[in-house]
Amino acid sequence: MATSKIIVITGANSGIGYATTKFIVSHSGYHVIMGCRDTKKGQAALDEIKSSGDIKGTLSVLQLDVTDDSSIAAAVSQVEKEFGRVDAFLSNAGITAHGYSAREQLNKIFATNVMGAYLTSQSFVPLLLKSEHPCLIQVSSGLGSLGLAANPADPHYNAPWEGYRMSKASLNMATLQQHKQLHCQNVRVFAYCPGLVRSNLRGKSEDAVSAGGAAGDPMTSARGLFDIVEGKRDSEAGQFLNANGTYPW
Ligand SMILES: NC(=O)c1ccc[n+]([C@@H]2O[C@H](COP(=O)([O-])OP(=O)(O)OC[C@H]3O[C@@H](n4cnc5c(N)ncnc54)[C@H](OP(=O)(O)O)[C@@H]3O)[C@@H](O)[C@H]2O)c1
Repeated sequence: MATSKIIVITGANSGIGYATTKFIVSHSGYHVIMGCRDTKKGQAALDEIKSSGDIKGTLSVLQLDVTDDSSIAAAVSQVEKEFGRVDAFLSNAGITAHGYSAREQLNKIFATNVMGAYLTSQSFVPLLLKSEHPCLIQVSSGLGSLGLAANPADPHYNAPWEGYRMSKASLNMATLQQHKQLHCQNVRVFAYCPGLVRSNLRGKSEDAVSAGGAAGDPMTSARGLFDIVEGKRDSEAGQFLNANGTYPW
């Protein structure tokens, strides 16, 4: 069985998943398994990180499409065979969808952000249970908070993106259910809002990537996620965290 910490990140080839992969292997000797639906993109991301400088940890690419049951099953079995356990599962893959009918848009968003995130992370639970200090993080969004959405004084109140917001609210419920199922088995479960940061979530133009100039550096999201993996926020397990505290569900 592998001795270094084994971390699986879904959607690791872009945005927050990429930044978190890079942050972890730059700050620890851990092994990051980069879950990517397109392994060519995954390999290109891995090569870029490796050639970017001071890497202490190790990396591998895993084919993993969170909307595809056979991909999930093959990924679990490959990780079990190669590593025997998972210490941290970062359920990060997520999408928005534009230019579809309302029904198609909801189907696409929920397939990835809710069913994909929940079913994939549940499939990795048996491997998490083989870790001494396991951790499961669902990458959510403040846009999914019902408490913030219902508060006219909060900036999230008037934010758009109904389908995406509904998906993250649903993911939050899934996270809470996972916490209740798993905390007695020693698994730390969290929802985490990574903040508004540069990524391809909103599209690929500079305006979309930067959210009109408002988006920050995904490395700050990566640091927040790494702190959770490292146990710095263990006392807040079962909650909806952000970089500075918690959000209401
Ligand atoms: N960026 C922000 O401001 C922000 C704020 C709050 C929350 N978030 C959340 O952060 C997470 C990461 O998003 P991001 O901002 O880094 O966006 P991103 O740059 O678009 O990255 C999303 C990643 O998810 C992958 N992905 C999409 N569908 C997938 C599937 N079916 N199976 C496996 N991987 C899939 C993408 O792969 P491809 O490259 O192949 O498409 C990509 O690697 C999401 O859950 C998002 O909701 C982001």
